Amino acid sequence: MILRKIKLVNFRNYRNLSVNFSKDINIIIGDNAQGKTNILESIYTLALTKSYRTTNDYNLIRFDQEKFIITGEVKDDKVFKKLSLEMSKNNKLAKINDNNINKISNYIGNLYVILSSPDDLQMIKGSPQDRRNFLNVEISQLSSNYIKKYNEFNKILKMRNDYLKLLLTNSLGDYSYLDILTNNLIQREVDIYIERQNFLKRIDDNITTIYKDITGIEDLNIIYQTNVEFKDFTEQNIISALKEKYRRNQQREIAMGMTLYGPHRDDIMFTISGNDIKIFGSQGQQKLAFIALKLSEIPIFEEKTNTKPIILLDDIFSELDKKKKNKLIHYVDNGYQVIITSNDTKDISKKLLKNANIYMIKEGKIVEKGGESNGRQER
Ligand SMILES: Nc1ncnc2c1ncn2[C@@H]1O[C@H](COP(=O)(O)OP(=O)(O)O)[C@@H](O)[C@H]1O
Ligand SMILES: [Mg+2]
Repeated sequence: MILRKIKLVNFRNYRNLSVNFSKDINIIIGDNAQGKTNILESIYTLALTKSYRTTNDYNLIRFDQEKFIITGEVKDDKVFKKLSLEMSKNNKLAKINDNNINKISNYIGNLYVILSSPDDLQMIKGSPQDRRNFLNVEISQLSSNYIKKYNEFNKILKMRNDYLKLLLTNSLGDYSYLDILTNNLIQREVDIYIERQNFLKRIDDNITTIYKDITGIEDLNIIYQTNVEFKDFTEQNIISALKEKYRRNQQREIAMGMTLYGPHRDDIMFTISGNDIKIFGSQGQQKLAFIALKLSEIPIFEEKTNTKPIILLDDIFSELDKKKKNKLIHYVDNGYQVIITSNDTKDISKKLLKNANIYMIKEGKIVEKGGESNGRQER
C-alpha cells in the first residue's frame, strides 16, 4: 500500500500543508521542533483515528483553531481511496471517498502503518509492564481471540486476588471456590501464553537476521521470560505446570493476598551475544534493537493484512554511526514505502539519496524539496 499524498489543515503546527510522497524512500529533514514528527503523527492518526503521542485529541488541533482536517490518498493494489479525518472539540468525523463512516471499525484497516518512534524506546529500557503493554498492543492487532482472553483473564485475576485476600482474613473460607477461580484463570492463561510465545517466536526468527544485516556481526535475540517454567508451549504442558504451581503456592498466595504466577508477571529480554541489553547495551544498540523489533513485525502484519504496511521511522539516525545509517536505509529500501525523519542527510550515501524524496521542513512549512526528479515517483 502507498500513501501518495497527505494534506493537513490546522493539524499541530501546520496551517496548511500538502505533500506528495514517493512510493519508495521519503526523508523529512529539519531542525528540532519544526514539525517533522507531526507529519508522521498525522499519518498515524489518519490510519488509526487517534495519536500515539497524546491521549487528548484536542492537542492535535492547531493552537487557537477550532478543528483539524487530515486528508490522504491511498493506493492499494490499483485501488485508490481518499481517507479523511476531521476533528473538532466535540466531534470526530472519518470519511472514505467523501462518505461518512459511522463505525470506527469500518474505517480502520484502510491504511496500515508500522511506526518506530523514539518515545517507544521505553519498551526496551523501561519496566516489565512497559514490555507487556507492548505485547498486548501488538498481539491485539493480530488476534481478536487474544483481546477476548486477555480481558477475561484480567477480570478473573481481580476476582481471584480479592478472594485470596478474603481467605487470609477469614479462615472459614471456601477453598473449592478458589479452585474454580484458579481453573477459570488457567483456561485464559493458556491462550495468552501460546499467543505471546507464537508472536515472539516469529519476531525472534526475524530480528536476528535484521540486526545482523545492519550491524554486520552482532547476534540479537528476543527471549520470552515467563515466571512459570514450561517444558514447551503445548496446551497440556502449560495447564499441568500452572496447576502444579498454584497448588504448591496456595498458602503463599493467600498470605500475600495475590496471584503470584501468570502472564501478568511476564517479561521479555533482548540479548546481544547473550547479554541483556537493558543492562549492558549502549544507547545505540538499544535504539537499533527497537528499530529491528519494529521491522521484524512487518512480515507478520503483512501476512495478516495482505498488504505492505507503510513504514514510518521517526528520528532513527541519531546515535547511529554512518555505516549503520546507510545499512538501515538500504535494508528498508526494499519495495516498501518508507517515510523517515532526520535532522539532516549528511551521512547518507549519494547512491541512496538519489532514489529518495527529500523534504526540508521549517516552522510547519516545506521550504525545499529535492530528489524528486531522480526519485522513483509514484504516478
Ligand atoms: N496543537 C499545536 N498547535 C501548534 N503548534 C503545535 C501544536 N502541537 C505542537 N506544536 C508545535 O510543533 C512543534 C514540534 O513539532 P515536532 O513535529 O514534534 O518537531 P520535530 O521537527 O522536532 O519532530 C513545536 O514547535 C510545537 O510547539
Ligand atoms: Mg521529532
